[in-house]
Amino acid sequence: MEPSTRRMHLGCFVLGTGNHIAGWRYPGAADSFQSLAVIQEIARIAERGKFDLLFLGDSLTAGVNDHPSFTARFEPLTMLAALAATTTHVGLGATGSTTYGEPFHIARAFASLDHLSGGRAAWNAVTSSGPRSAAKFGREHPAHDARYERAEEFVDVVRGLWDCWDDGAIVADRATGRYIDPAKARPLDHEGRHFRVKGPLNIGRSPQGQPIILQAGASEAGQELAARTADMVFSVVQDLDEAKAGYKSLKSRLARYGRKAGDVFVLPGVMPVIARTDREARDKLNMLQSYVTGTNAASLLSNRLGVDVSQFALDDPVPDLPLPDSSHGFARAMLAKARRERMTWRDLHNLTGAARGHWVISGTPECIVDTLTEWFTDYAADGFNILPPYFPGSFDDFVDMVVPILQERGLYRRDYSGTTLREHLGLARPPSRFFPPADG
Ligand SMILES: Cc1cc2nc3c(=O)[nH]c(=O)nc-3n(C[C@H](O)[C@H](O)[C@H](O)COP(=O)(O)O)c2cc1C
Repeated sequence: MEPSTRRMHLGCFVLGTGNHIAGWRYPGAADSFQSLAVIQEIARIAERGKFDLLFLGDSLTAGVNDHPSFTARFEPLTMLAALAATTTHVGLGATGSTTYGEPFHIARAFASLDHLSGGRAAWNAVTSSGPRSAAKFGREHPAHDARYERAEEFVDVVRGLWDCWDDGAIVADRATGRYIDPAKARPLDHEGRHFRVKGPLNIGRSPQGQPIILQAGASEAGQELAARTADMVFSVVQDLDEAKAGYKSLKSRLARYGRKAGDVFVLPGVMPVIARTDREARDKLNMLQSYVTGTNAASLLSNRLGVDVSQFALDDPVPDLPLPDSSHGFARAMLAKARRERMTWRDLHNLTGAARGHWVISGTPECIVDTLTEWFTDYAADGFNILPPYFPGSFDDFVDMVVPILQERGLYRRDYSGTTLREHLGLARPPSRFFPPADG
């Protein structure tokens, strides 16, 4: 896409108690991720801001010391099905694990969500970083490489299942009594190293043909999976040069898979803390940070770094640590920042408590827009995954104060021009590989 017509894409990372670990303590903030009213309000704000996507992460663990929205939350597909009924445009994305799931379940669930929402479903294919997930299934947690090897085949099977039906397979002809055209549905007959899946799915081809695939891994294996299969990638970055390098690294892998730079959108996660003046914004951030202790982010930080951080004194410097088996992306960005800024463990607890390792910016709406614009025009980002520290107030701030400036500057849509997530992204609806169009 020409730079002049390039537009930002925006996602919102939804956690009912806020993305900040203690955002729920902010005056007036929602304090539950088990509330339909809370998520409906978030969805209303997202559509007012013409957002591309609402994104629901998911983990399979629940510890009393985790982020409160990790500990007590709805099952994401169930929740998005509820939102599909009360929203009209915003994309609905959720995490589904390739390590603790079956391709048939994922393919079926996201095809269903795509039908229910009229073409707004997105699947975040994750390999599940936390070893604690294994205990929920009576299994051993596979190593990083093994998780990604399974993920590669898993995604192929899911996409194959989505392709088993052609458009128009359900004919429902009252005169003849014929319901399905048998020539337009076929089995998958996949036989691979990890899966044997006959198919087809028991649901017709979905409005987007293929729901959108999200990916958020940043290891070598994660980037390769994303380059081959993802439409949108969430990155974890703390600094512009790092973001530019990550962006380039991913886009440079695409040609190998016959794909172009415009086929995949890179959205770094960012937590904006916004106020009318710099001083007010700083006060707001300071207030949020005053809720972070040496223990309430410890579980998250230990998971990010793959070590038990309670063994380290808070005022000791953060040493160089090897990349953990859990997640390379978060650890790499957080350890690089710690090294650059000579951080102590207390600093790293503060960073993790704020945005779980994502980038945090604070300031006036103009200052936030200037920074996001620089990242966008410097090809560090195709848009952003916004992490409001608390809901609904700080999401309102973004939509009411930042979005209008982005629109005035021609960087962001004033209204939706389509109804499906593919249309928001400008991505064509793919034909089924098994039923190519007659002219092609
Ligand atoms: C924005 C974002 C959202 C993520 N959401 C989830 C999630 O919901 N569940 C999960 O298990 N992992 C999640 N992850 C982790 C990654 O998807 C990935 O599986 C993990 O980081 C290991 O990949 P890596 O070593 O390639 O970085 C997320 C990562 C990012 C950056």
